[in-house]
Amino acid sequence: MAKRTIVNLPGDGIGRSVLDAAIRVLDAAGFEADYVEGDIGWEFWRTEGNPLPQRTLDLLEKHKVALFGAITSKPKDEAAEELVPELKDKNLVYSSPIVGLRQHFGLDICLRPCRTYKGNPLNFIRRGANKDIEEPMVNAAIFRQNTEGLYGGVEWANPQGVVYDALMSHPKFKKNFGHVPQEEISVSTRIFTKKATERILRAAFEHAKEFGFDNITVCEKPNVIRETSGMMYKMALELHKADYPNIWVRNTNIDAQMMWLTKNPEDYGVIVAGNMFGDIVSDGFAGLIGGLGFACSAQYNPETGISVFEPTHGSAPKYADYDVSIVNPIAMIESACMMLDFIKEYDYAKKIRAAVAEVIEEGKVRTYDMMKMRGKADVIENGAASTDEMADAVIAKLK
Ligand code: NAI
Ligand code: MG
Repeated sequence: MAKRTIVNLPGDGIGRSVLDAAIRVLDAAGFEADYVEGDIGWEFWRTEGNPLPQRTLDLLEKHKVALFGAITSKPKDEAAEELVPELKDKNLVYSSPIVGLRQHFGLDICLRPCRTYKGNPLNFIRRGANKDIEEPMVNAAIFRQNTEGLYGGVEWANPQGVVYDALMSHPKFKKNFGHVPQEEISVSTRIFTKKATERILRAAFEHAKEFGFDNITVCEKPNVIRETSGMMYKMALELHKADYPNIWVRNTNIDAQMMWLTKNPEDYGVIVAGNMFGDIVSDGFAGLIGGLGFACSAQYNPETGISVFEPTHGSAPKYADYDVSIVNPIAMIESACMMLDFIKEYDYAKKIRAAVAEVIEEGKVRTYDMMKMRGKADVIENGAASTDEMADAVIAKLK
């Protein structure tokens, strides 16, 4: 079979060190691929005025599958300040290249699995009925709609003209906000489309079917946010009836779900939500299994097959310039495993996950976060493993 080409998008800060570590693990596991590096992130914003150059979009269009580290985003004005002098007066406006990637390729399905590794000192524990300590085994797959909703970017400060008129045509706006001066009003919309809502629901149902779950949980707020959350829940019930009769639909509200998070997280298998609530609930679950060093994700477009695999964490700029990288590469390694699953290279993924599990359970090699240290350059001399040492430990356990 022809060797695959994977687009490598290290990005900024710690993105490169975790991605390099993950690729070493992929190589050592025997997964053969050619990697081509794509330009993305701060350097390209500063020097070209575009953190996501067209050539990078072309690369992904061609090769379809990318591993992504992390990027740095900064507020608009600060970003404009850092442009090279010849670009400063061009009125360029910074926008996040990872959000740009999602929108450009319609990567509207985001999957964030949260699985407990035995022996991880960061695992959530709770008190049982007899004051004993319980360590619930979490295994939840959170499907987050990735392109619409509150992150759709349709917003106004001081709405004017037809926008204001349209708002005033809504009786509730008129009654509750009609007396407020326009310049004191800001509006962020929450737009859900039927097509995207059906796609994220189907992705969740299909996952449940493939992995033997008998239900999915829609985690929204349909009793209050009727037109969007309500639509998602209703469509879930319709899909259940029409196509997935053996997978029933549970309905939880995002606020209550966060309250229950520590009560019975092991009771949730497949969760589906819109963009904002999906972000919240997936971070909540990630906190139970070790936090940012363990939170991985896949984003894909089911029609084109274009997909980007990335840890949930950002570029952690304060650690980026350390001589030895101290961050935990497991979230990136897990993201690479999700890529392997996606391209149906299940055996490599299984092998790598087993090695990661063994390293964690053995507990000899731990990055600073796993040792509950504060992230500083001296963590290595205090016994924490570096990013590379963690990757080496995983490699040593590959069978
Ligand atoms: P962050 O995720 O970069 O870091 C927050 C803290 O989490 C770090 O200080 C560190 O203590 C810990 N952490 C992160 N990754 C870790 C790892 N692999 N191992 C151990 N500990 C880890 O979030 P922050 O500081 O809010 O943002 C930094 C920059 O990253 C910003 O410019 C932000 O815009 C960007 N960002 C990018 C994302 C992406 O590329 N998808 C996502 C989130 C933030
Ligand atoms: Mg988040």
